[in-house]
Amino acid sequence: MITLGLESSCDETSVSILRDGKILANLIASQDFHVKYGGVVPELSSRAHLQIIAPLFKQALEEAKISKDEIDVVAATAGPGLIGALLVGLNFGKALAYSLDKPFVAVNHIEGHIYSGFLMEEKPDYPILTLVVSGGHTLLLLVEDELNITRLGTTIDDAAGEAFDKVAKMIGLGYPGGPKVQEYSEKGNPKAVLFPVANLKGEYDFSFSGLKTSVLRHIQKEYKNAENIPEVDKPDIAASFQDAVVRALYKKVEKAINNYDVNSLSLVGGVAANKAIRNKFSELAKKYNKKLVIPDIEFCGDNAAMIAYRGSKLFENNIISGLTANAFPALPKDSFKSLKK
Ligand code: KG4
Ligand code: ZN
Repeated sequence: MITLGLESSCDETSVSILRDGKILANLIASQDFHVKYGGVVPELSSRAHLQIIAPLFKQALEEAKISKDEIDVVAATAGPGLIGALLVGLNFGKALAYSLDKPFVAVNHIEGHIYSGFLMEEKPDYPILTLVVSGGHTLLLLVEDELNITRLGTTIDDAAGEAFDKVAKMIGLGYPGGPKVQEYSEKGNPKAVLFPVANLKGEYDFSFSGLKTSVLRHIQKEYKNAENIPEVDKPDIAASFQDAVVRALYKKVEKAINNYDVNSLSLVGGVAANKAIRNKFSELAKKYNKKLVIPDIEFCGDNAAMIAYRGSKLFENNIISGLTANAFPALPKDSFKSLKK
């Protein structure tokens, strides 16, 4: 079965072609021009998706060495994401499915991330404890099988990636923040400043806004304002912040490992590219003797291969949205309904 995947929820346009779950092509065009605005400008993002999606589709067919008539299923991200950006990929996918007379499957972007681990040679075994850490979401999920995904916890304020981006901006490292914080952290001492980890009522919930405020307070106390931070101090602040994020994630995931009988642990989403987090999760998996799956860096960030993979699984389960599927900007409230234990 050949599945075409399309992803355009934020600042990456991606087209991927899978044959029976194996990647034939996975092209990702990143919109680097947002750097000069210090963040993604939604309207510019939509226009850029519109310009590149058709040539990227053509290139993907060439790379996969197939003709468009060989596509069996078309899958596209429907949300959550920037609405104008989403509509580009979604409508391209629907139009293509209509013209080829093939089924169309709308895919939830977060479900795409969850299934990015399945693109790896070594796949997770169910039940899986999955931590989704991206720019917009931080979710701890129990994935029992393809159709049973339950939310154990989420962030009550900022997402982990958002905290990386905001702190990077605060200490003048630029955008996108995550990779910059990681780069600076490698030269810094993670124990230089002890930033706190929030203590929350929700057993598996996260909070990063207090941490962000602590970094701001530290800057105000030591330097009055960010412009005065000497270049030599930046690595220590970055490393100490990153260490607090790692501790916060580790604490909740460890608690869930102790309370749920899972076979695997998986770490997905843009922030899963972070080396310190990857290392800490390897330790955690070893400690509890669990199989650990973290996608290769290429599949941590937004990509259409994960959308095609999830789309093919929904199709196999007869979940075909058809051409009436609409885009949605936020995760619906009842998605992955919380499980009390
Ligand atoms: O999953 P993703 O590509 O897009 C969303 O769906 O949000 O995640 C993007 C997020 C950004 O906040 C970015 O700063 C963060 O992932 N990120 C990182 C790293 N690489 C990307 N955060 C920490 N360390 C990294 N190496
Ligand atoms: Zn994403």
